[in-house]
Amino acid sequence: MESPFVSIADHGLAPTRSGKVREVLDLGDQLLMITTDRISAFDCVLPTPVPGKGKLLNRISNHWFRTMREIVPNHVVSDQEPEFPRDLVSFLPVLRDRWVLVRKAERIDVECVVRGFLAGSGMREYRDKGTVGGIEVPAGIPDYGELPEPLFTPTTKEDVGHDRPVTYEELCDRIGSDLAGRLRDLSIRIFRDAGRRARERGLLLADTKFEFGWIDGDLCLIDELLTPDSSRYWDGDGPRDAEPEPLDKEYVRGYLKGLDWDRNPPAPPLPREQIAETYRRYLRVYDALGVGTES
Ligand SMILES: Nc1ncnc2c1ncn2[C@@H]1O[C@H](COP(=O)(O)OP(=O)(O)O)[C@@H](O)[C@H]1O
Ligand SMILES: [Mg+2]
Repeated sequence: MESPFVSIADHGLAPTRSGKVREVLDLGDQLLMITTDRISAFDCVLPTPVPGKGKLLNRISNHWFRTMREIVPNHVVSDQEPEFPRDLVSFLPVLRDRWVLVRKAERIDVECVVRGFLAGSGMREYRDKGTVGGIEVPAGIPDYGELPEPLFTPTTKEDVGHDRPVTYEELCDRIGSDLAGRLRDLSIRIFRDAGRRARERGLLLADTKFEFGWIDGDLCLIDELLTPDSSRYWDGDGPRDAEPEPLDKEYVRGYLKGLDWDRNPPAPPLPREQIAETYRRYLRVYDALGVGTES
């Protein structure tokens, strides 16, 4: 197993901003975003990283940004080595496959969640109330079943603590109905297109979340795109009458749920076997999407 990459601070660079998984160097109009091997669950960073996971995530995200740029502009400037910032070039070997150069955006503080299948909190809400994100859904959909159409179920984006679900009406009050409508329509369009592409490659995209921001007056996709950290991926060939095997962070959540942990920090460590299995599952998404065969 390769050695884990936990922070650029361990390699002599001071991050301008450190998220749960990614670190950012502010370069003026642009940001150098670096994906570490940290893993978070229930909004807590685990003490044990998953070596190599950051490279998979970064490359999966960049793959989807390239694929989706016909539908919506995005923040990516480049992930190609000739374009790596010249004054940081001595750090390129250690940052290889983990970095992407992006344009700095004015973030819209909304997590644009789209759900195509029942899972997680959406499934619990459907069982309790017959709604998903407050939207009425026909009765009779089995657990983990496909929704009649993808649903937009946004949440707030909080810098500390847990994100909070908001109805579409609340979103309109917060950011205006024009922008809310654009976020909803774009999110559903990207989800449908990505879901179709994933299916062609033997994966089911159950749900995901997007972030958007303003760059030079244009509404752009930012952050990470359709990764197994931000999405639920299932094996498209698995049995449809059983709980699907998650190819994403849900596997880690499942392990943690079996422990006596109250979901407040500090999070428990992942044992070796679960670390290796998490990596294998993320690698399956990477391989299925054919990301490794791109230049
Ligand atoms: N183009 C961009 N401009 C400004 N901020 C961005 C851009 N892309 C992503 N971000 C922000 O950078 C951070 C990425 O780090 P991440 O580990 O995902 O943090 P978080 O813990 O908030 O999820 C997020 O806060 C995200 O909203
Ligand atoms: Mg994030």
